[in-house]
Amino acid sequence: KNLSSIRIVEVGPRDGLQNEAKIVPASVKIELINRLSKTGLKSIEATSFVSAKWVPQMGDNTEVLQRIEKVDGVSYPVLTPNLKGFESALAAGAKEVAVFGAASESFTKKNVNCSIAESLERFQSVLDAAKANNIKVRGYVSTVVGCPYEGKINPSAVAKVCEKLLTMGCYEISLGDTIGVGTPGTIKDMLLEVLKVAPVDKFAVHCHDTYGQALPNILTSLDIGITVVDSSVSGLGGCPYARGASGNAATEDVVYMLEGCGAKTGINLDLLIDTGKFISEELGRPSESKVSRATRKI
Ligand code: HMG
Ligand code: MG
Repeated sequence: KNLSSIRIVEVGPRDGLQNEAKIVPASVKIELINRLSKTGLKSIEATSFVSAKWVPQMGDNTEVLQRIEKVDGVSYPVLTPNLKGFESALAAGAKEVAVFGAASESFTKKNVNCSIAESLERFQSVLDAAKANNIKVRGYVSTVVGCPYEGKINPSAVAKVCEKLLTMGCYEISLGDTIGVGTPGTIKDMLLEVLKVAPVDKFAVHCHDTYGQALPNILTSLDIGITVVDSSVSGLGGCPYARGASGNAATEDVVYMLEGCGAKTGINLDLLIDTGKFISEELGRPSESKVSRATRKI
């Protein structure tokens, strides 16, 4: 496998903060993103253009996207569930967006208030508008191995949604283990099934660490040939519509693992650890990153 071409998509400012009960001030989010921009990360998911009634924490989306310092060569994608979200994102200056589907009907209903088929219709409008505006669209598929409402998910249900999103024009699909129940075994079974519908360079993995399996799941995915990994500084994260789901793999830990395997991530681990400490202090709790804890000065 080609470790030198691994790309990390930092999802902390979005996935990491969307689930925080206490509203994090926009100024803190902006500082977080600005600090992340200096670490060498090339893709930083900034916010989401969803309903503030549903996810109040992301209600400052326009302010955050407009005020961050955009570093050349760094992409700042935002989530857009429908055309309304896309139009607001475009007006705020988004250059890349992401639509988010799921392999489970019940999760889709709780998350975006419609069926899988209806969600795909809405995404089609987003993809059409994005194409007309020269905007790249990433696709997410959530609940790829397990659903908080339905339990185990059949890999063929995942492959079906992936195929639809790719046909609609998503440049890449991020496979989300939303509640972190996957293991190297179930992740592998799922990947082998989705690889029947598209080549490996069309997929990324997005592993939540609820059961402590995120790093082994990522490593398993890399072994299968995946080269894009989502992670979250300080291991922040969760989904408001998947109770109990904890954060993503910590970016610090992913970078440490990759560098240890001989990869050149181009990411400055010290700056990343400092950034993780900054947001942990703002949130008033210790970092979930083992690497950050291990390197803590006593
Ligand atoms: P809805 O209530 O069905 O929408 O929500 P609607 O079309 O019926 O409209 C109702 C109201 O919402 C209207 O306003 C719309 O204008 C407004 P009103 O007339 O009542 O004043 N509205 C919007 N406002 C702002 N932005 C929008 C928007 N769309 C409609 N884009 C909707 C449907 C999708 C909006 C809602 O369900 C929602 O916002 N859900 C939030 C979902 C979310 O953010 N989930 C977390 C992200 S996904 C995730 O974390 C998983 C991931 O990390 C991968 C993984 O881990 O697996 C990606
Ligand atoms: Mg997530």
